[in-house]
Amino acid sequence: MTSHPDPPAKLSLTELQDRKARGEKLVMVTAYDHPSAKLADAAGVDVILVGDSAADNVLGYDSTVPVTVDELLVLVRAVARGARHALVVADLPFGSFQVSDETAVANAVRFVKEAGADAVKLEGAGPSLSRVQALVGAGIPVMGHVGLTPQSATMLGGFKAQGRTAAKAQRLRADARALEAAGCFAVVLEAVPAAVAARVTQAMTIPTIGIGAGSGCDGQVLVWHDLLGLSDRRPARFVKRYAELGSAIKTALEQFASEVRSGAFPEEQHTYAMPDEELELFEHAERAPEHTD
Ligand code: KIV
Repeated sequence: MTSHPDPPAKLSLTELQDRKARGEKLVMVTAYDHPSAKLADAAGVDVILVGDSAADNVLGYDSTVPVTVDELLVLVRAVARGARHALVVADLPFGSFQVSDETAVANAVRFVKEAGADAVKLEGAGPSLSRVQALVGAGIPVMGHVGLTPQSATMLGGFKAQGRTAAKAQRLRADARALEAAGCFAVVLEAVPAAVAARVTQAMTIPTIGIGAGSGCDGQVLVWHDLLGLSDRRPARFVKRYAELGSAIKTALEQFASEVRSGAFPEEQHTYAMPDEELELFEHAERAPEHTD
């Protein structure tokens, strides 16, 4: 009997910690659907975040604020079905965890139980700390997120880098450490000076995942549409595009439209044949009077 190698196991939270200890970088991307999750998994990505950035990237909202738990549940379910190895983290959208520990736990349970998420992410420290404790107490792993937190961008004075004074950097480090103490297994640092992020990373035992936070973090995350050139917005300073799929898709669609209009598509190889005698009978039936009984 042929023996098949075991499929790669789901990445564990312990392994994430061990990677930090060994100085091995962690790779996280956002993804919002099943084929994307399968590609990320096959590419060896460690963590897939179904971010609330789905709001603007796939659902057409102007910001992340309007997206609902029900909308994200559909996307998390699709991603979880495609990720065999990568850890799937569901972002808790605005309004789903701010009100109370109880609503935070109820909503997070839906992401784990109904959609198959391995963990959830929430933004902020302060009031979010008791949410983290409640979620971890309920057995749900939590990723924190400090620095630029898009759900509260208005409070932060817009989409700009955070922690750029000594006092603000100190606050940021205290918040990240408080999230660690509350039970987070990792923390995203977004739009933070590289020197600050490196020091915060050194001050923590759990991994930091940077986005616009320099190379001193334990891992990096980029948004799918930014990384692959699928977004028509001006990319943020910290984005590196690894492909231009948006223009490749547009060119393919233009070629399809042109070939349909000119009759060049479909060709014979794209069609089904039928036996000649059946075709003759079919044509004869068209000419013959209708059979009525
Ligand atoms: O929703 C998202 O895409 C995020 C990343 C920017 C970390 O929170």
